[in-house]
Amino acid sequence: MSAARLAELIRDAQPCVVLTGAGVSTESGIPDFRSPTGIWAEFDPLEYASIEAFRRDPAKVWSFYAPRFAMLTEAEPNDAHRALAALEEAGYVRAIVTQNIDLLHERAGSRDVIEVHGSIRTSSCRACGASYPLAEVVALLEREPAPSCVACGGVLKPDVVFFGELLPEWAIERASELAREAGLLLVVGSSLEVYPVAGLPLETVQAGGRLAIVNRDPTPFDGDAELVVHAAAGETLRATADLLL
Ligand code: APR
Repeated sequence: MSAARLAELIRDAQPCVVLTGAGVSTESGIPDFRSPTGIWAEFDPLEYASIEAFRRDPAKVWSFYAPRFAMLTEAEPNDAHRALAALEEAGYVRAIVTQNIDLLHERAGSRDVIEVHGSIRTSSCRACGASYPLAEVVALLEREPAPSCVACGGVLKPDVVFFGELLPEWAIERASELAREAGLLLVVGSSLEVYPVAGLPLETVQAGGRLAIVNRDPTPFDGDAELVVHAAAGETLRATADLLL
């Protein structure tokens, strides 16, 4: 049974570092990106999620992000988020590196979360740098399609990493350090298609660590993993946590 094998790996291959992607949040009602029903099947990421598109037409990019902000703020953590928070609390998970911007790990109670693609927590003014918390941005979005800075009128940008932007240096360096020091890197809900994050599994393996993947679809790193579970994250992680806690 996969949960028993995963529980044994987490227990024996410490420290366990978790790497999550959009697949850990689909059971919270948030679509992922590359599944057949994912967001990129409907929207072209270069038109709606690249820094070039934002510079060219911020209102168009906000027309994509505004409904996502509403969806993400209404979503609730699911069994996978809760299981990972409980495993951290019990000392089985050292930290979570997440590609997700939805704040659900933090809302589930996880404390050491490295958001390598930023998050919706704040948006910033491109002109003067003023920072706006999520609640203020949601309120501004009710009044205008592309929120503008109250102080200087500049256009706000979500503090998430767009295609064509660099990841926060501190975040990817910490993620890489965690991957190299991990006894086990547990990947949950990621297609492992987007670099530099997709390079983390091999950093673990090359440093002598072990790899486990819980993902509905195959990934390019399944062959490097000691355990691959092609099943739902919520059910798998809940069953695994039940065996360890
Ligand atoms: N349980 C397990 N796996 C799931 C579930 C689920 N409930 N739902 C979806 N998945 C799997 C899918 O099979 C898919 O392989 O999660 C994976 C999600 O992959 P992507 O949609 O590519 O998401 P992610 O890996 O996070 O994308 C990385 O790409 O577009 C950018 O910035 C965006 O952070 C994102 C990055």
